[in-house]
Formats: sequence, structure tokens, C-alpha cells
Amino acid sequence: MGVVIKGGKIITDTDSYYANLRIENEKIVSIGSNLEIEGDEVVSAQGCYLLPGAIDPHTHFDLDVGSTVTADDFESGSKAALIGGTTTIIDFATQSKGETLKEGLNNWHKKADQKCYCDYGFHMAITDWNENVCSEMEEMKDLGVTSYKMYMAYKNVLQVNDLEILNALNKSKEIGALMCFHCENGDIIDFLINKAKNNNQVSPKYHPITRPSEAEAEAVYRLIKLAKIVDSPIYIVHLSTKRALEIVTTERKNGAEIYVETCPQYLLLNENCYEIDVEDEFEGAKYVMSPPLRKKEDQEYLWNGIKNNDVDTVATDHCSFNYKGQKELGRNDFSKIPNGSAGVEHRLSLMYTNGVLKERITLNEMVDVISSKPAKLFGLYPQKGTISVGSDADIVIFNPDYKGRINAKDQTQNVDYTPYEGFDQIGRVTDVFLRGNRVVKQSLICDKYPGGKYIYRK
Ligand code: URP
Ligand code: ZN
Ligand code: ZN
Repeated sequence: MGVVIKGGKIITDTDSYYANLRIENEKIVSIGSNLEIEGDEVVSAQGCYLLPGAIDPHTHFDLDVGSTVTADDFESGSKAALIGGTTTIIDFATQSKGETLKEGLNNWHKKADQKCYCDYGFHMAITDWNENVCSEMEEMKDLGVTSYKMYMAYKNVLQVNDLEILNALNKSKEIGALMCFHCENGDIIDFLINKAKNNNQVSPKYHPITRPSEAEAEAVYRLIKLAKIVDSPIYIVHLSTKRALEIVTTERKNGAEIYVETCPQYLLLNENCYEIDVEDEFEGAKYVMSPPLRKKEDQEYLWNGIKNNDVDTVATDHCSFNYKGQKELGRNDFSKIPNGSAGVEHRLSLMYTNGVLKERITLNEMVDVISSKPAKLFGLYPQKGTISVGSDADIVIFNPDYKGRINAKDQTQNVDYTPYEGFDQIGRVTDVFLRGNRVVKQSLICDKYPGGKYIYRK
């Protein structure tokens, strides 16, 4: 039999209305009133919003960065995602040097299959471009991979050069895939890190100084020009500055097809975090991520960017490392602090509390950037990213009356701090349905086994 969710207000990227919905065989089968059939389970969503399950198109679970492995694997990361209302993640399956794309993808399946509690897909991060990789891209479509990522930073590790970018863009254009880019000039950063270390500047506060906004702006501008040569669309991950967004909007007006992602950390945290504790200046390591946190004026500019449709998606770039034992690897050298922070659990509540309630964006705009647009850009729509008849029944019941605070001690993500410690949290996810199966009840995971499915993206 089915499930009927009653009394909630349905919010999509375009509409807000009161209706009931009925779920059967993993799908939404009807929306309206008087939907109940004998034997149906009835769930009340009185006073709550019904949101389409959020989609996080930027996570790094179980990622080996050489010196250590992320604190969250697919089990803890996906449970945290569900608790926070995210029903699908797209993680970056990363090709190691010397590997084929298929080998890289298989490795990620081994990490995630039968472990993931939410649905998942993979982008493929290309770190070792060659002719074989180029021809493999075609075959990856049958394996459900329709988007790729290249890093313009992390010299001698992940960074690719302009020729490799051009070749990859050329191929992706041919096969209709979307290329994503980490835009920072790795050579500028390498130069500045060496300079800082030669001057014995080794504490976390030098991390942002060695990754200035110029390094991002230069990479964004260069990438756009490279994409223009082969007339290919591009997706810029974790864009963090006003300057970079200005470049994008100018080039978009000139006809370039560019999609922009930002993250809650660039909307809500700023460079002051690197010097929060005078007692132990290493506390700033909690915020060592790339790009680094920026200025307050960048934050407001990015919020406006969402409002003006200049920013398309808000993802988390969840890449968590414990402060103790992991961030501490760089106690005597900021460049050895593993880069990244946690956020998969808190994106929806952060966006609601700081975006919707502060009237920076509407509820529909929030749904758009955390669910519908990621689904549309990454081949999941309308299976996911909306509430409509025929879509997967990925439904979040969100209670707007809850009032609390974000605390590391209450979180499900497996990391010993949160960058949002003490932040107000108004509203919270109470129940989550993943393809019709209730996986979160009263804000607790109730699924005993990992029910996440690999999604073959279009
Ligand atoms: O600091 C970050 N963002 N770490 C994760 C890897 C990346 O650059 O996306
Ligand atoms: Zn990145
Ligand atoms: Zn990332």
C-alpha cells in the first residue's frame, strides 16, 4: 500500500501551495486532496513545509588526500546528509595518476555501494589526462557519469594544464557532458606558499594570504576564455569572491554558458575566522579550505548573486577532517593542514535561517539552488529535484517552528567540530522519505540498512 502525507505546504522552485501527496512504489503518484486508499499509511505534515529532497552536487566522502582520509565516509556522510534533508549527493570519484577512469570509478563504487544511506551519483575528477581517458569519457555515459571535474590548483598533485583543459572541454562538448572546475591558479599559490614558508610564516592565518582572490579571478577568467575557444559550457565549483562573480556575469552577458556554484561557508563565514582564538592561533586550521574564506563584502555579493540568478547552486564541498589528529598534521606548517571542512548536514537549515528568514532569498529560491538546479544541471531532473507526479518520492518534512543552535556534539557527521558552532538554527527537518521509504523520523535516522541507490545520470 501507499503513504499519504497530509496537511503540508508544498514548496518547489516555482510554486508554494497546500496539498496532500500520495506515494507508491517509490514514486509520487498523486497530489491533491482525498487521496487516501484503504490500507495507506497517513503521515501528518501539519504546519510544515514539504520540500523536494535536497541534492548536494559537491561532496568528498572517504577521500584519501595522501596524509590522511576524510573523517566522513559514505556511511556517516550519507546519514548526516539525510538528517539535514539531502537525499542525493554527487561525490567526486577521483582518478589517481596512472589509473583509467573506469578504475577510478570502480574504486568509488567500492567505497559507496551498500554503505550509502542516501542516493548517490559520481562526477569523475580527471587528474591524469591522456588519449585513453579521452575515449573513455564516451563510455562513461553508460556507467551513469555525465559530468567531470578538473582542478586548476593543487600543483603537482591534481592540477591540470591549459592544453588538458582544452582537450577535455572539447571532448565534453562532443559528448554532451558538463565539465566542472576548481578555479584557483595553482602556480600563484605554490609561489606564495614557498615565499611564506621561507619567511617562517607557518600558522593557519597564512593560508588565505597564499590563496588571494586574484588567484581565483585569474583562473576563472582563463577558464572562460579556454571554454570559448571550443564553445563549451562550464560549471565553476565553490566560487568564493565578488571579483570572480563579476567576471562570470560580464562573460555571461557576452553569451558564455557558465554555471556557478557557491557554498554556505562563503556566504556565512569570513576571513576573521583565521584569527578567532588569540590563545591558540592554530584554531584557524578548522577553516583551512580552498578557496579560503573571504571578506564580508564577498559574502553579501554572493547572496545577491543567488537572488539575481548569477549563482546557480549552493553545494557544501563537504570534505571533513577532525581538528584533533588530522588538521593538526599542519601544526608547524599550514600547507600540510588537510584542506576542507564539514557542511553536508547543515546546508538546508543554514540557508533557511540565514537566507530565507533574513529575506535574502525566498523559499522557492532556496529550493532552486539546493535541489532543482543541481538536478537540472546534473541529469537528475525531474526524477529528482522537484515534487511532481512521477518524480521519485524524495520528500523532506520541514518544521519552521523549531528554534535551536548548531552544535558539534549534536551532529551526525563524524567530525569533532563544525565551522558553524553556535549558529542559530530556526526550523529543522523532522522526516525524510527516500524514494518513498521513511528514512528519518523525528529528526533521527530510522533506516537500519543503507538504502541509497546509485543513480545513473542522464
Ligand atoms: O578545501 C577543499 N575545498 N577541499 C576539498 C577539495 C576541493 O578543492 O574541492
Ligand atoms: Zn575544489
Ligand atoms: Zn571539493
